[in-house]
Amino acid sequence: MASTRVLCLFNGRAAGWSKALARTGCRNVCSSPSRLQSMSAWVIDQYGSSAVLRHTDEISIPTINFAHEVMIKVSAASLNPLDLNMRGGYGAALLNLRRDPLSVMNSFSEFPLILGRDLSGVVVDCGSGVTHFAPGDEVWAAIPPWKQGSLAEYVTLTEYEVSYKPKSLSHIEAASIPYVANTALSALVNAGGLCRETSSNKRVLITGASGGVGTFSIQLLKAWGAHVTVTCSQNAEGLVRGLGADEVVDYTAGDVAEQLERMERFDVILDNVGGDTEEWAMGLLKPWSGAKYVTLVSPLLLNTDSMGLLDGTLHAGLTLHNKAFQNITSSGVFYRWAFYAPDGPTLDEVSRLADAGKILPVVEAQFPFTQVPQAFHKLEQGHARGKTVVKVAEDDECIEATESEREVQETAQQY
Ligand SMILES: NC(=O)c1ccc[n+]([C@@H]2O[C@H](COP(=O)([O-])OP(=O)(O)OC[C@H]3O[C@@H](n4cnc5c(N)ncnc54)[C@H](OP(=O)(O)O)[C@@H]3O)[C@@H](O)[C@H]2O)c1
Repeated sequence: MASTRVLCLFNGRAAGWSKALARTGCRNVCSSPSRLQSMSAWVIDQYGSSAVLRHTDEISIPTINFAHEVMIKVSAASLNPLDLNMRGGYGAALLNLRRDPLSVMNSFSEFPLILGRDLSGVVVDCGSGVTHFAPGDEVWAAIPPWKQGSLAEYVTLTEYEVSYKPKSLSHIEAASIPYVANTALSALVNAGGLCRETSSNKRVLITGASGGVGTFSIQLLKAWGAHVTVTCSQNAEGLVRGLGADEVVDYTAGDVAEQLERMERFDVILDNVGGDTEEWAMGLLKPWSGAKYVTLVSPLLLNTDSMGLLDGTLHAGLTLHNKAFQNITSSGVFYRWAFYAPDGPTLDEVSRLADAGKILPVVEAQFPFTQVPQAFHKLEQGHARGKTVVKVAEDDECIEATESEREVQETAQQY
């Protein structure tokens, strides 16, 4: 595991200015670079391979339009398989409906599109209804897939999607966590029925445990006291054991189902691999005892892309219903699909676990903002061991970017 720790001198200064602003009652003063019209970002103007990634300094700054929005200067972002998929057009039909229901027939209205679902950064501006955050607060967030992403200098989100970044993590480290954390919690809690109070006597199997979701899920489940078995390649065994995995099955060393069948049955399976996994995994669950199979690899968005919104949703719904019905009636196990759900309050709990040293960031690689195509290339190679992070703001840029805050503070002190 290669974890990075970066000193961003700005952090302390920003916190100080934030307090000064709060003291002077300037909570809602626009401390963002409001005089600037455009920002730097990596965008795509069409779907395709890495050749479609384009850097520009001329993307409109996402200003605050609603009372509960906060504008964040991005310090670091991370990449996920979803970014690769969205670059190729995955989910476009459903996401465009969510982006703008009225212009769903207007092809290409989503461009220029900014990818990147995770961020760690600093609040620079707040809408008049924001109650939890102030300019200068260090925050992290997972960004809903229909919103503009974090491969940009600024992102605007609602305050409910944002959480205070763990104090013990650098921005680079923090950016590696929100998306996989929100995904894992959605899968394990909402679909898998697990929580801190009920996990201690549970046996959980995680397939594909060496990637982003898996490395987070192992740590969360161990923090909750579950017994965790994982599947991964042989060369990832040290990583997953280091994160707490109790039993490790090397899927490259023969029939993985056969190896797992020799073990005690599981209460919950979190499937990060998909494909034919569910064909053999259902039989590994304890029958007639409320056990659950939860997969993160569902055909919903592929269906809506290929069949259209209505047919695709109906087809996916029917598939889910049939599989769920068949499994509950034949062996009493629940079959479920899970999806990532951006959620600030959930990240608050993760932040506490990170500050308590129970969740460690697993940063496999980091790239400067100038090398976003190389970061995508890394992701495309597969075999992730944790996360790939992009450092969006250089340290001295952090400082530069807050010159406007200093001006606001100085102005405020005159009154
Ligand atoms: N539904 C949702 O909202 C949602 C949200 C997040 C993620 N996902 C999906 O969930 C999956 C996992 O996400 P992630 O971010 O963790 O992906 P990732 O970071 O790319 O990790 C995948 C891991 O699985 C390992 N792997 C590949 N084939 C395997 C196999 N047959 N058995 C065991 N391990 C295997 C890979 O390493 P090796 O190839 O070296 O073994 C890699 O470490 C992806 O398909 C992603 O698209 C869905």
